[in-house]
Amino acid sequence: MKVLVTGGTGYIGSHTVVELLEENHEVVIIDNLNNSKEETLDNIEKITGKKVKFYNEDLRNKEVLEKIFTEEGIDAVIHFAGFKAVGESVEKPLMYFDNNLISTINLLEVMKEHDVKKLVFSSSCTVYGVPETVPITEDSPLSVMSPYGRTKLIIEDMLRDLTNSDDSWSVIILRYFNPIGAHKSGLIGENPNGIPNNLMPLIVKVANKEMNELKVFGNDYDTKDGTCVRDYIHVVDLAKGHIKALNKLDNKGAHVYNLGTGKGYSVLDIIETFKRVNNVDVPYIFAPRRSGDVPMVYANPEKAFNELGWKAELDIEDMCRDSYNYVVNYKKIGE
Ligand code: WQD
Repeated sequence: MKVLVTGGTGYIGSHTVVELLEENHEVVIIDNLNNSKEETLDNIEKITGKKVKFYNEDLRNKEVLEKIFTEEGIDAVIHFAGFKAVGESVEKPLMYFDNNLISTINLLEVMKEHDVKKLVFSSSCTVYGVPETVPITEDSPLSVMSPYGRTKLIIEDMLRDLTNSDDSWSVIILRYFNPIGAHKSGLIGENPNGIPNNLMPLIVKVANKEMNELKVFGNDYDTKDGTCVRDYIHVVDLAKGHIKALNKLDNKGAHVYNLGTGKGYSVLDIIETFKRVNNVDVPYIFAPRRSGDVPMVYANPEKAFNELGWKAELDIEDMCRDSYNYVVNYKKIGE
Protein backbone atom coordinates (compact mmCIF):
# COMPACT_ATOMS: atom_id res chain seq x y z
CA MET A 1 0.00 0.00 0.00
CA LYS A 2 0.95 3.65 -0.40
CA VAL A 3 0.77 5.07 3.11
CA LEU A 4 0.76 8.73 4.12
CA VAL A 5 2.48 9.06 7.50
CA THR A 6 1.82 12.38 9.21
CA GLY A 7 4.56 13.22 11.71
CA GLY A 8 6.74 10.60 10.02
CA THR A 9 10.10 12.15 11.00
CA GLY A 10 9.14 12.06 14.68
CA TYR A 11 10.09 9.45 17.28
CA ILE A 12 7.31 6.87 16.82
CA GLY A 13 6.61 7.98 13.24
CA SER A 14 10.17 7.33 12.01
CA HIS A 15 10.29 3.88 13.60
CA THR A 16 6.94 3.06 11.98
CA VAL A 17 8.18 4.30 8.59
CA VAL A 18 11.14 1.88 8.87
CA GLU A 19 8.77 -1.03 9.54
CA LEU A 20 6.46 0.05 6.68
CA LEU A 21 9.37 0.15 4.23
CA GLU A 22 10.62 -3.22 5.42
CA GLU A 23 7.14 -4.61 4.72
CA ASN A 24 7.47 -3.17 1.17
CA HIS A 25 4.87 -0.45 1.58
CA GLU A 26 5.44 2.87 -0.21
CA VAL A 27 5.65 5.80 2.21
CA VAL A 28 4.89 9.52 1.90
CA ILE A 29 5.68 11.69 4.93
CA ILE A 30 4.21 15.05 5.82
CA ASP A 31 5.90 16.71 8.78
CA ASN A 32 6.47 20.38 9.74
CA LEU A 33 9.67 19.45 11.66
CA ASN A 34 8.33 21.18 14.79
CA ASN A 35 9.69 18.38 16.99
CA SER A 36 11.94 16.41 14.63
CA LYS A 37 14.81 16.79 12.19
CA GLU A 38 14.99 16.30 8.41
CA GLU A 39 18.18 14.25 8.78
CA THR A 40 15.98 11.47 10.14
CA LEU A 41 15.06 10.81 6.49
CA ASP A 42 18.69 10.03 5.66
CA ASN A 43 18.90 7.67 8.61
CA ILE A 44 15.69 5.90 7.55
CA GLU A 45 17.29 5.41 4.13
CA LYS A 46 20.53 4.11 5.72
CA ILE A 47 18.51 1.52 7.68
CA THR A 48 16.19 0.39 4.88
CA GLY A 49 18.00 1.33 1.67
CA LYS A 50 14.77 3.00 0.56
CA LYS A 51 13.75 6.61 0.03
CA VAL A 52 10.47 8.18 1.07
CA LYS A 53 8.68 11.17 -0.46
CA PHE A 54 8.81 13.99 2.09
CA TYR A 55 6.67 17.11 2.36
CA ASN A 56 7.94 19.67 4.90
CA GLU A 57 4.46 21.03 5.47
CA ASP A 58 1.88 21.70 8.17
CA LEU A 59 -1.40 19.78 8.17
CA ARG A 60 -3.18 23.06 8.91
CA ASN A 61 -2.37 24.06 5.30
CA LYS A 62 -5.33 22.38 3.65
CA GLU A 63 -4.33 23.39 0.13
CA VAL A 64 -1.04 21.50 0.48
CA LEU A 65 -2.88 18.51 1.86
CA GLU A 66 -5.23 18.58 -1.17
CA LYS A 67 -2.22 18.66 -3.50
CA ILE A 68 -0.56 15.70 -1.79
CA PHE A 69 -3.68 13.54 -2.04
CA THR A 70 -4.23 14.58 -5.66
CA GLU A 71 -0.68 13.83 -6.72
CA GLU A 72 0.27 10.85 -4.58
CA GLY A 73 -2.61 8.38 -4.76
CA ILE A 74 -2.69 7.49 -1.06
CA ASP A 75 -4.26 4.19 0.05
CA ALA A 76 -4.16 4.64 3.84
CA VAL A 77 -3.00 7.13 6.47
CA ILE A 78 -1.18 6.73 9.78
CA HIS A 79 -1.67 9.94 11.75
CA PHE A 80 1.04 10.76 14.32
CA ALA A 81 1.41 14.52 13.82
CA GLY A 82 0.55 16.55 16.91
CA PHE A 83 1.97 18.28 19.94
CA LYS A 84 2.39 15.84 22.85
CA ALA A 85 3.89 17.52 25.92
CA VAL A 86 1.44 17.27 28.80
CA GLY A 87 2.95 20.13 30.83
CA GLU A 88 3.17 22.47 27.81
CA SER A 89 -0.46 21.75 26.96
CA VAL A 90 -1.53 22.97 30.40
CA GLU A 91 0.29 26.28 29.80
CA LYS A 92 -0.82 26.66 26.16
CA PRO A 93 -4.16 24.88 25.66
CA LEU A 94 -5.25 26.92 22.63
CA MET A 95 -2.01 26.06 20.82
CA TYR A 96 -2.75 22.37 21.42
CA PHE A 97 -6.40 22.61 20.34
CA ASP A 98 -5.48 24.58 17.23
CA ASN A 99 -2.60 22.33 16.20
CA ASN A 100 -3.91 18.88 17.11
CA LEU A 101 -7.58 19.38 16.23
CA ILE A 102 -7.43 21.60 13.14
CA SER A 103 -4.74 19.35 11.66
CA THR A 104 -6.89 16.29 12.18
CA ILE A 105 -10.11 17.86 10.85
CA ASN A 106 -8.26 19.01 7.72
CA LEU A 107 -6.80 15.55 7.25
CA LEU A 108 -10.16 13.79 7.63
CA GLU A 109 -11.93 16.21 5.27
CA VAL A 110 -9.30 15.78 2.55
CA MET A 111 -9.28 12.00 3.04
CA LYS A 112 -13.06 12.00 2.59
CA GLU A 113 -12.87 14.16 -0.55
CA HIS A 114 -10.37 11.71 -2.05
CA ASP A 115 -12.22 8.62 -0.86
CA VAL A 116 -9.28 7.52 1.30
CA LYS A 117 -11.01 5.97 4.30
CA LYS A 118 -8.39 3.81 5.99
CA LEU A 119 -6.81 5.42 9.04
CA VAL A 120 -4.62 4.39 11.98
CA PHE A 121 -4.65 7.05 14.71
CA SER A 122 -1.98 7.60 17.35
CA SER A 123 -3.77 7.93 20.67
CA SER A 124 -2.47 7.54 24.20
CA CYS A 125 -3.06 5.86 27.56
CA THR A 126 -3.43 9.40 28.84
CA VAL A 127 -7.12 9.17 27.88
CA TYR A 128 -7.60 6.86 30.88
CA GLY A 129 -6.62 9.61 33.33
CA VAL A 130 -6.26 8.15 36.83
CA PRO A 131 -7.21 4.50 36.32
CA GLU A 132 -9.61 3.05 38.91
CA THR A 133 -8.01 -0.37 38.47
CA VAL A 134 -5.00 -1.83 36.71
CA PRO A 135 -4.28 -3.47 34.32
CA ILE A 136 -6.21 -1.11 32.04
CA THR A 137 -8.49 -2.54 29.34
CA GLU A 138 -9.95 -0.66 26.37
CA ASP A 139 -13.28 -0.58 28.24
CA SER A 140 -11.75 1.20 31.25
CA PRO A 141 -13.35 4.58 32.00
CA LEU A 142 -11.94 7.56 30.08
CA SER A 143 -11.09 10.77 31.91
CA VAL A 144 -8.53 13.21 30.60
CA MET A 145 -6.43 15.42 32.88
CA SER A 146 -4.65 17.76 30.45
CA PRO A 147 -5.45 19.69 27.27
CA TYR A 148 -3.08 17.29 25.48
CA GLY A 149 -5.10 14.31 26.69
CA ARG A 150 -8.30 16.14 25.82
CA THR A 151 -7.19 16.58 22.20
CA LYS A 152 -6.57 12.83 21.99
CA LEU A 153 -10.01 12.03 23.40
CA ILE A 154 -11.78 14.61 21.22
CA ILE A 155 -10.12 13.13 18.12
CA GLU A 156 -11.09 9.61 19.20
CA ASP A 157 -14.70 10.80 19.62
CA MET A 158 -14.60 12.53 16.21
CA LEU A 159 -13.44 9.25 14.65
CA ARG A 160 -16.22 7.30 16.38
CA ASP A 161 -18.83 9.82 15.18
CA LEU A 162 -17.38 9.75 11.65
CA THR A 163 -17.41 5.96 11.38
CA ASN A 164 -20.94 5.83 12.84
CA SER A 165 -22.08 8.26 10.13
CA ASP A 166 -20.34 6.48 7.26
CA ASP A 167 -19.52 2.77 7.44
CA SER A 168 -17.13 2.99 4.51
CA TRP A 169 -14.45 4.19 6.96
CA SER A 170 -12.03 1.74 8.58
CA VAL A 171 -10.32 3.29 11.62
CA ILE A 172 -8.00 1.81 14.22
CA ILE A 173 -7.14 3.84 17.32
CA LEU A 174 -3.95 2.79 19.10
CA ARG A 175 -3.53 3.86 22.74
CA TYR A 176 0.20 3.86 23.50
CA PHE A 177 1.54 3.39 26.99
CA ASN A 178 5.10 4.67 27.60
CA PRO A 179 7.22 4.33 24.44
CA ILE A 180 11.00 4.22 25.05
CA GLY A 181 14.02 2.69 23.30
CA ALA A 182 15.36 3.10 19.78
CA HIS A 183 16.06 1.14 16.61
CA LYS A 184 18.92 -1.32 17.20
CA SER A 185 21.02 0.46 14.50
CA GLY A 186 21.30 3.51 16.76
CA LEU A 187 20.47 5.67 13.72
CA ILE A 188 16.99 6.76 14.84
CA GLY A 189 15.65 7.31 18.34
CA GLU A 190 14.03 9.79 20.67
CA ASN A 191 15.61 13.12 19.85
CA PRO A 192 13.14 15.85 20.78
CA ASN A 193 13.92 19.46 20.02
CA GLY A 194 14.43 21.37 23.29
CA ILE A 195 14.32 20.07 26.88
CA PRO A 196 12.73 16.62 27.21
CA ASN A 197 9.97 15.98 29.76
CA ASN A 198 9.89 12.21 29.68
CA LEU A 199 11.90 9.89 31.92
CA MET A 200 14.08 7.98 29.46
CA PRO A 201 15.50 10.94 27.48
CA LEU A 202 16.42 12.51 30.83
CA ILE A 203 18.07 9.32 32.13
CA VAL A 204 20.07 9.23 28.89
CA LYS A 205 21.16 12.87 29.32
CA VAL A 206 22.35 12.15 32.90
CA ALA A 207 24.16 8.97 31.82
CA ASN A 208 25.75 10.95 29.00
CA LYS A 209 26.86 13.61 31.50
CA GLU A 210 24.80 16.33 29.80
CA MET A 211 22.97 16.75 33.15
CA ASN A 212 24.40 16.19 36.67
CA GLU A 213 21.55 14.21 38.15
CA LEU A 214 18.02 12.97 37.61
CA LYS A 215 15.17 14.15 39.81
CA VAL A 216 12.90 11.26 40.78
CA PHE A 217 9.49 12.86 41.24
CA GLY A 218 8.20 11.32 44.44
CA ASN A 219 9.15 8.17 46.36
CA ASP A 220 6.11 8.07 48.65
CA TYR A 221 3.57 6.52 46.30
CA ASP A 222 1.74 3.33 47.25
CA THR A 223 3.96 1.15 45.04
CA LYS A 224 6.64 -1.47 45.76
CA ASP A 225 9.44 1.12 46.09
CA GLY A 226 7.43 4.33 46.42
CA THR A 227 8.09 5.51 42.84
CA CYS A 228 5.52 5.55 40.04
CA VAL A 229 4.91 2.47 37.92
CA ARG A 230 4.41 2.66 34.14
CA ASP A 231 4.04 0.25 31.21
CA TYR A 232 7.17 0.99 29.20
CA ILE A 233 7.08 -0.39 25.67
CA HIS A 234 9.89 -0.58 23.10
CA VAL A 235 9.25 1.87 20.26
CA VAL A 236 10.01 -0.87 17.69
CA ASP A 237 7.28 -3.07 19.21
CA LEU A 238 4.99 -0.08 19.04
CA ALA A 239 5.90 0.50 15.38
CA LYS A 240 5.16 -3.14 14.56
CA GLY A 241 1.76 -2.72 16.17
CA HIS A 242 0.96 -0.14 13.48
CA ILE A 243 1.76 -2.62 10.73
CA LYS A 244 -0.60 -5.15 12.33
CA ALA A 245 -3.26 -2.44 12.56
CA LEU A 246 -2.77 -1.41 8.92
CA ASN A 247 -3.36 -5.02 7.89
CA LYS A 248 -6.63 -5.07 9.83
CA LEU A 249 -8.16 -1.96 8.27
CA ASP A 250 -10.73 -3.99 6.38
CA ASN A 251 -12.96 -4.07 9.45
CA LYS A 252 -15.44 -1.25 9.14
CA GLY A 253 -15.94 1.16 12.05
CA ALA A 254 -13.53 2.44 14.70
CA HIS A 255 -11.64 -0.09 16.84
CA VAL A 256 -9.47 0.72 19.87
CA TYR A 257 -6.40 -1.19 21.06
CA ASN A 258 -3.99 -0.73 23.96
CA LEU A 259 -0.36 -1.05 22.89
CA GLY A 260 1.52 -1.93 26.05
CA THR A 261 3.50 -4.88 27.41
CA GLY A 262 1.11 -5.60 30.28
CA LYS A 263 4.02 -5.25 32.72
CA GLY A 264 4.60 -2.30 35.08
CA TYR A 265 8.04 -1.05 36.06
CA SER A 266 8.86 1.65 38.63
CA VAL A 267 11.10 4.64 38.01
CA LEU A 268 13.79 2.99 40.16
CA ASP A 269 13.44 -0.27 38.18
CA ILE A 270 14.19 1.68 34.99
CA ILE A 271 17.14 3.56 36.50
CA GLU A 272 18.74 0.39 37.94
CA THR A 273 18.18 -1.63 34.74
CA PHE A 274 19.62 1.19 32.64
CA LYS A 275 22.73 1.39 34.84
CA ARG A 276 23.24 -2.38 34.78
CA VAL A 277 22.83 -3.07 31.07
CA ASN A 278 24.85 -0.03 29.99
CA ASN A 279 27.42 -0.16 32.80
CA VAL A 280 26.96 3.56 33.44
CA ASP A 281 26.07 5.64 36.46
CA VAL A 282 22.82 7.59 36.70
CA PRO A 283 23.01 9.83 39.80
CA TYR A 284 19.57 10.79 41.09
CA ILE A 285 17.84 12.51 43.98
CA PHE A 286 14.29 12.20 45.26
CA ALA A 287 12.25 15.34 44.55
CA PRO A 288 8.65 16.26 45.32
CA ARG A 289 5.88 14.60 43.34
CA ARG A 290 5.11 16.04 39.86
CA SER A 291 1.53 17.31 39.62
CA GLY A 292 -0.63 15.15 37.37
CA ASP A 293 1.36 11.95 37.93
CA VAL A 294 -0.62 8.87 38.86
CA PRO A 295 0.88 6.06 40.97
CA MET A 296 0.37 3.10 38.67
CA VAL A 297 -0.51 2.71 34.97
CA TYR A 298 -0.11 -0.45 32.92
CA ALA A 299 -2.07 -2.13 30.13
CA ASN A 300 -4.01 -5.30 29.58
CA PRO A 301 -2.80 -5.90 25.99
CA GLU A 302 -4.89 -9.03 25.33
CA LYS A 303 -7.29 -7.41 22.84
CA ALA A 304 -4.43 -6.41 20.51
CA PHE A 305 -3.06 -9.94 20.73
CA ASN A 306 -6.42 -11.61 20.07
CA GLU A 307 -7.60 -9.28 17.27
CA LEU A 308 -4.43 -7.87 15.69
CA GLY A 309 -2.12 -10.77 16.38
CA TRP A 310 0.29 -8.31 18.03
CA LYS A 311 2.34 -8.76 21.19
CA ALA A 312 5.32 -6.80 22.51
CA GLU A 313 8.47 -8.91 22.12
CA LEU A 314 11.28 -6.70 23.47
CA ASP A 315 11.99 -6.40 27.19
CA ILE A 316 13.05 -3.63 29.56
CA GLU A 317 16.73 -4.47 29.08
CA ASP A 318 16.41 -4.04 25.29
CA MET A 319 14.66 -0.71 25.87
CA CYS A 320 17.42 0.58 28.16
CA ARG A 321 20.24 -0.74 25.99
CA ASP A 322 18.81 0.64 22.74
CA SER A 323 18.01 4.05 24.28
CA TYR A 324 21.62 4.52 25.33
CA ASN A 325 23.07 3.03 22.14
CA TYR A 326 21.19 5.65 20.12
CA VAL A 327 22.88 8.48 22.01
CA VAL A 328 26.33 6.87 21.93
CA ASN A 329 25.98 6.12 18.21
CA TYR A 330 24.26 9.41 17.37
CA LYS A 331 26.90 11.41 19.24
CA LYS A 332 29.57 9.55 17.22
CA ILE A 333 27.78 10.69 14.06
CA GLY A 334 28.74 14.20 15.09
CA GLU A 335 25.59 15.40 16.80
C1 WQD B 1 7.23 8.54 33.69
C2 WQD B 1 7.54 8.48 35.17
C3 WQD B 1 7.42 10.57 36.31
C4 WQD B 1 10.84 12.56 34.50
C5 WQD B 1 3.73 10.84 29.46
C6 WQD B 1 2.45 11.34 28.90
C7 WQD B 1 1.76 10.24 28.16
C8 WQD B 1 2.69 9.65 27.13
C9 WQD B 1 3.97 9.18 27.80
C10 WQD B 1 2.20 10.76 25.06
C11 WQD B 1 6.60 9.34 36.00
C12 WQD B 1 8.83 10.01 36.36
C13 WQD B 1 9.86 11.61 34.80
C14 WQD B 1 11.80 12.90 35.50
C15 WQD B 1 10.77 11.34 37.00
N1 WQD B 1 2.98 10.59 26.13
N2 WQD B 1 9.85 11.02 36.03
N3 WQD B 1 11.73 12.27 36.70
O1 WQD B 1 4.07 11.04 32.51
O2 WQD B 1 3.95 8.49 32.42
O3 WQD B 1 3.47 9.82 30.39
O4 WQD B 1 4.55 10.32 28.46
O5 WQD B 1 1.24 10.16 24.74
O6 WQD B 1 0.64 10.82 27.53
O7 WQD B 1 1.64 11.72 30.01
O8 WQD B 1 5.79 9.69 31.21
O9 WQD B 1 8.24 9.74 31.11
O10 WQD B 1 7.03 11.87 31.79
O11 WQD B 1 7.14 9.93 33.36
O12 WQD B 1 10.73 10.81 38.11
O13 WQD B 1 12.70 13.75 35.30
O14 WQD B 1 8.85 9.01 35.37
O15 WQD B 1 7.08 11.13 37.57
O16 WQD B 1 6.34 8.66 37.20
P1 WQD B 1 4.28 9.78 31.77
P2 WQD B 1 7.11 10.37 31.83
